[in-house]
Amino acid sequence: MLSRLSRTTVARTIVRKRFISATPASRSDALFVHRDTPYNNPKIAFEFNPENLKRAKEIISHYPPQYKKAAVIPLLDLGQRQNKGWTSISVMNYVANLLEMPPMRVYEVATFYTMFNREPIGQHFVQVCTTTPCMLQGSTDILNTVCEHLGGIKPGQTTSDGKFTVIEVECQGACSNAPMLVVGDDFYEDLTPQSTKKILDALKKGEKPKPGPQSSRQTSENSAGLTALTSKPYGPGEFCQPEFQ
Ligand code: FES
Repeated sequence: MLSRLSRTTVARTIVRKRFISATPASRSDALFVHRDTPYNNPKIAFEFNPENLKRAKEIISHYPPQYKKAAVIPLLDLGQRQNKGWTSISVMNYVANLLEMPPMRVYEVATFYTMFNREPIGQHFVQVCTTTPCMLQGSTDILNTVCEHLGGIKPGQTTSDGKFTVIEVECQGACSNAPMLVVGDDFYEDLTPQSTKKILDALKKGEKPKPGPQSSRQTSENSAGLTALTSKPYGPGEFCQPEFQ
C-alpha cells in the first residue's frame, strides 16, 4: 500500500504529465453548426458561372440520372473555388438544388470533409503539414516561420490585409519531401525556414514561386545519389541472349 507521502508524489507526477490539448482552429471545422451571419446566409445569391455550369453538367453526365447526387463532392469543390475558396451555405444549397438532393445531405458532406472551408479564407491558403514525418523533419520550425513571417498570426487566422490564411494540416502524401506546405493547389517541399520565407515573400509580391522541392532534388529521388540499381538500365530486348532473338 502506498504511504500518504508517496500517494501525493504519484498524484503530483500524474498532474504534471497531463496536458490540455489546444487544437488550433481550422477554416473547415470552425463551425459545427451553421448560424446565419451577414456574410454567410441563404439570402446571398450563388450560382455557377457559365464555365462552371458547363463543367458541372459534364461531371453530372458521368453518372446515371438516378445517381447524380454522386457528383456532390466535385460540385462542392467547383462551388468553393468559384466562391473565393470557401463553401458558404448558399453554395451548399445551390449544389443541393442542382443535384435534387435534400440540402441536409449536402451539409453532411461539406461538414465531414475538412477540405471544404466553411469560413472565408485569405487570398493565399497556406496549409502546413505537421504530421509525424514532417514534424520529424522540422515542420514545427516551418509553421513558426510562416506565422512569424506573416506578422505573428496563429494557425487558423488570416492576416489583416486578407492575403494569407494559415492552418495546420495532416499528411498531404508528400512525406518523402518533408517538411512541406501547400498553397492553393501547389506543393512546396524540402522546406527550410529560409526557403519558406522566400516562398511567402514571392507570394506577397504577387509572384508565383516554383512549386515542388525547394532543394536540389527534382522529385523525391535520393539526395545522396543512387545506392541501388546503379548500372545503366537496359532497353527493350537488351536482356535477351542473341540466340533467343
Ligand atoms: S507527413 Fe507531411 S506530407 Fe506526409
